[in-house]
Amino acid sequence: MTAVNIHKTYTGKAEPVHVLRGVDITINRNDLAAIVGASGSGKSTLLHILGGLDRPDEGTIRFRDTDLSKMDDEALAGFRNRNIGFVFQFHHLLPEFTALENVFMPGLIAGKTMPEIRQRAEYLLEQTGLKNRMDHRPSELSGGEQQRVAVARALMNEPEIIMADEPTGNLDEANTDKLLSLLLDIREKEQTAIVLITHDHRIAGIAPTVHRLQRGQLERPAEPNS
Ligand SMILES: Nc1ncnc2c1ncn2[C@@H]1O[C@H](COP(=O)(O)OP(=O)(O)O)[C@@H](O)[C@H]1O
Ligand SMILES: [Mg+2]
Repeated sequence: MTAVNIHKTYTGKAEPVHVLRGVDITINRNDLAAIVGASGSGKSTLLHILGGLDRPDEGTIRFRDTDLSKMDDEALAGFRNRNIGFVFQFHHLLPEFTALENVFMPGLIAGKTMPEIRQRAEYLLEQTGLKNRMDHRPSELSGGEQQRVAVARALMNEPEIIMADEPTGNLDEANTDKLLSLLLDIREKEQTAIVLITHDHRIAGIAPTVHRLQRGQLERPAEPNS
């Protein structure tokens, strides 16, 4: 995926906020890229735009041979469902459904067959260490477990990119470590790219590429000690 010259301004009651001012970024297959920056610097805004949840005011995003700006809302929703897996700070699981059923959802939306969906969901929940939690509802799971269900759900349709926005922001240290090692494991097994937003430099440290969002633009900071 290549994004070029992305601009985004929020207009509202207050002064317009020009959050993104010409962001360029390329995410290749199987990349692991962290995006760091102060709170309010526009990290979530950028992630939403890259993942097709929001649209830029200016700039282009190309994914394979497709320009996201040329897609209507329905096409964009289909694109997200098939190609992007989102993980947010809060799990956003549906409370009335079990872990297994939550993981089904993207597969149902994609129109896959039920046997195919069930097999993939069970496999993913095993991979995320939740083999014995499949029939639990979110309220019956710990914070770390909820977040791992969210990761399994994000992987349902074998997305090319996982977009994770502060996925460990609500977890203690042990669960943070567990989630990060899960993401690394997934990257290897599924060959997905991961874009990891964090304000924690220790977490960013697991990524070979670290981009810093500052004054509306991305910089690649110097290597440590250079
Ligand atoms: N929907 C919105 N309307 C108006 N301003 C917004 C909206 N979303 C975010 N902002 C503002 O844009 C800036 C960047 O927000 P955000 O992308 O959430 O930053 P980050 O994720 O880095 O903390 C902040 O100043 C925030 O207040
Ligand atoms: Mg944010």
